[in-house]
Amino acid sequence: MGKALIIGAGGVAGVVVHKCCQNSEVFEEICIASRTVSKCDALKAKLDGGKTKITTAQVDANNVSELIALIEKVKPDIVINVALPYQDLTIMDACLATKVDYVDTANYEPEDTAKFEYKWQWAYRDRFKEAGITALLGSGFDPGVTSVFSAYAQKHYFDEIHSIDILDANAGDHGYAFATNFNPEINIREVTANGSYFENGKFIETEPMSIKSVYDFPQIGEKDIYLLHHEEMESLALNIKGIKKIRFWMTFGQSYLTHLKVLENVGMTSIEPIEFEGKQIVPLQFLKAVLPDPASLGPRTKGKTNIGCIFQGVKDGKPRTYYVYNVCDHQECYKEVGSQAISYTTGVPAMIGASMVMTGKWKRPGVFNIEEFDPDPFMDALNKFGLPWHESFAPALID
Ligand SMILES: NC(=O)c1ccc[n+]([C@@H]2O[C@H](COP(=O)([O-])OP(=O)(O)OC[C@H]3O[C@@H](n4cnc5c(N)ncnc54)[C@H](OP(=O)(O)O)[C@@H]3O)[C@@H](O)[C@H]2O)c1
Repeated sequence: MGKALIIGAGGVAGVVVHKCCQNSEVFEEICIASRTVSKCDALKAKLDGGKTKITTAQVDANNVSELIALIEKVKPDIVINVALPYQDLTIMDACLATKVDYVDTANYEPEDTAKFEYKWQWAYRDRFKEAGITALLGSGFDPGVTSVFSAYAQKHYFDEIHSIDILDANAGDHGYAFATNFNPEINIREVTANGSYFENGKFIETEPMSIKSVYDFPQIGEKDIYLLHHEEMESLALNIKGIKKIRFWMTFGQSYLTHLKVLENVGMTSIEPIEFEGKQIVPLQFLKAVLPDPASLGPRTKGKTNIGCIFQGVKDGKPRTYYVYNVCDHQECYKEVGSQAISYTTGVPAMIGASMVMTGKWKRPGVFNIEEFDPDPFMDALNKFGLPWHESFAPALID
């Protein structure tokens, strides 16, 4: 059917490349482009020789003219952005200039301010509409699948959804005292920021990790969960009819939290540049350099993730509760694509989102969050491409 340009060659990109190759009817050709071309070449070497033709290229995705030149050379039908959130706007600018569709998995965040919001990307709505191209925002797991779950619940099970609890559990053990499962800089910025939840039309900020609960997850068991701010709450608050409350919860182990507190207390998680031996360095970027590369955790990580949403609302005048979730096994992912479940659960939906746009199912000019499209073909594709989901109509609830 067509050609995709994949930007980034990290943990998530590795899964996207594998999954595009498994879906070669849609992805006849892919080009993997990133800052470090040797990482693109290594991915090509792993997967070359199948039905999907693979090429590689070097690109600095902070540079719009370099991106435009690459897109003009490769002539893709879609750009899949699995670099970092800092590059979202430059890649969207290049897509606009070349009239090519766009998909990403994380919303834009300025490098010098630890604050992610959709306002910067939503500002492109009119320009994408006028150019006749689609931007699909947040096609990972959370955001991504959690938002598709919300659209599915709204479409099939509720007249009105009143509350959503998004539950992200990782019971994987990599054997390190401290490591992050995706890009450490992005991960630490996210978890050290203030928490927030949506209630009665507004967001309420909380101190980082100050709200804790416990949840007994199917196939994983009881885990401590902490309330965090997360980007999909911003768009779900606008797109889910009748919504009154949205919370996002993530599991953290005691060792992770203790290490994070110490690193924070000594200034290692700061994004303020400091002078070190005559050079300006950002402490968090230095920390990233000494932590294990998330892409290297695959062979060591054992256990499962469970990510899903609990919805409460009404159907035909009666109260209803619905829980939909996916369980993913780190070792199974490693066997299949050579990476742990966090990259897997992000890379599979990134490929599916791109295929929805490429096949025309979700092709609509403008900038959209993923819950704005028909969830059904995406839900089917999750079952087909390795992220099957489970349902319950009587789950345990969080206070
Ligand atoms: N929605 C979700 O559920 C979810 C979950 C996890 C992650 N994510 C998102 O997925 C994305 C990828 O995460 P990851 O764990 O794969 O990160 P990663 O392993 O750090 O990979 C990032 C890749 O982007 C490349 N890159 C960085 N800056 C670049 C630039 N200026 N030009 C070209 N390439 C550049 C890096 O190149 P080098 O190799 O040269 O460093 C690296 O290959 C992130 O945006 C993350 O926030 C989303």
